Amino acid sequence: MSEEDLVENYEKLKNEINFHNYRYHVLDKPIISDAQFDKLLLELRDIEAIHPEWITSDSPTQRAGTIPSSKFEKVEHPVPVLSLANAFSTDDLVAWRDRLIKINPDVARAQYVVEPKFDGLTVVLHYQNGLFVKGATRGNGVVGEDITNNIRTIRSIPLKIPVGDRKTFVPDYLVVRGEVLISLSDFEMLNKKIIENGDKAYLNPRNTAAGSLRQLDPTITAKRPLRLYAYNILTSSGNIPETQWEVLEYLKLLGFSVSEYSALCKNMEEVLEISEVWQTRRDQLDFEVDGIVIKINDLELDKSLGFVGKDPRGSIALKFPAREEVTDLLDIGVNVGRTGVLTPYAILEPVEIGGVIVRQATLHNFDYIYEKDIRIGDKVFIKRAGDVIPYVIGPVVDARDGSEVPFTIPDTCPACGGPVEQPIGEVAWYCMNARSEERRVGKECRSRW
Ligand code: IVH
Repeated sequence: MSEEDLVENYEKLKNEINFHNYRYHVLDKPIISDAQFDKLLLELRDIEAIHPEWITSDSPTQRAGTIPSSKFEKVEHPVPVLSLANAFSTDDLVAWRDRLIKINPDVARAQYVVEPKFDGLTVVLHYQNGLFVKGATRGNGVVGEDITNNIRTIRSIPLKIPVGDRKTFVPDYLVVRGEVLISLSDFEMLNKKIIENGDKAYLNPRNTAAGSLRQLDPTITAKRPLRLYAYNILTSSGNIPETQWEVLEYLKLLGFSVSEYSALCKNMEEVLEISEVWQTRRDQLDFEVDGIVIKINDLELDKSLGFVGKDPRGSIALKFPAREEVTDLLDIGVNVGRTGVLTPYAILEPVEIGGVIVRQATLHNFDYIYEKDIRIGDKVFIKRAGDVIPYVIGPVVDARDGSEVPFTIPDTCPACGGPVEQPIGEVAWYCMNARSEERRVGKECRSRW
């Protein structure tokens, strides 16, 4: 093969792998097996080993993240990375719309895009001639941190746009905004592995995603199941769509993950209907959302409305009631169930979570208390999601003052004073008086019904 053919072959292979990577990580619809994918990647690595001078930043081998940086450089954003004003009820949304109509009567006929408000971290992605060249955190909205090497490891972020051999137009310079997060199922799996290794479980997907993005060593970031959802074009050197809905379509065409739960609404009435749907949808998704974002679809109209401080008038977040709170763990009580299982529960300084006062929360089992290192006197994170019983997520370790007391498993049943035991191979502890009739211990646990 001539050198020219070899280069062409290399380019083709690179594109092919990037395409399969996109099928797998963005579309969730791979068309080749993992083994076939690995084979292609190996082929690519072999070529790059012989010709390291050919390696470019869009090579899929460059996602591994091998260049640890000692600190993050500051990056000035090309335009301010704005935030959003909040609404807390549908009445607030109607009031928002009415205010906008007074500023520009065209709003009366406006369409809206409703998007999930991802509970993740904003990132700013720079593309030059279709190549991913820089990625930054939001920082204070004017200056962020350069986390390019970490971002490069996120497989749902295209290193080259458009992905594959699509002919979609890409301006020479394009800056995309999106949210990086960890899905709930990935988070669970990650924690399972961590606990198996004897390490401390992570508290929640958002903090874990934030910590992962700010790792000095990108090989660590590469091991975390981060994903990106793109939702905005911050700036570009060429023509971009004129409506938010088309922006989402365009980002999808380029190869970005865009939420399938976004909706185009013809008017505010439709927005209100969708917001109702979200009250239950929220609990069915595999990622955390802390609200929905309502955006005027016509970007020119949106621009005409201007800003209040750092918030563009043309978009607003409808926040869902918080489902996580921090409160004091006053004590740990132990319930004895029908079968004699001892179940620890947290006695809490009462706290309001999403409109309900929470005084107690489950701690699942004794192992859980030790795995999470929960101590009496700790400040603890409490979660109340949907109809699930509130549970303790974990302690706020940084809030400790040394007075916290580790919990000890009672040696007698708190209900009847009988013996307690943890049968070999089980997580649960039991009151032996209640556990089994056959034991004929002669005593009855008072907790029995
Ligand atoms: S739009 C000017 N859309 O929410 C446009 N933001 O509280 C401002 N966020 O800092 C952002 N999902 O990190 C937008 N679909 C979405 C979003 C979203 C999550 C975050 C974003 C922003 C924060 C504002």
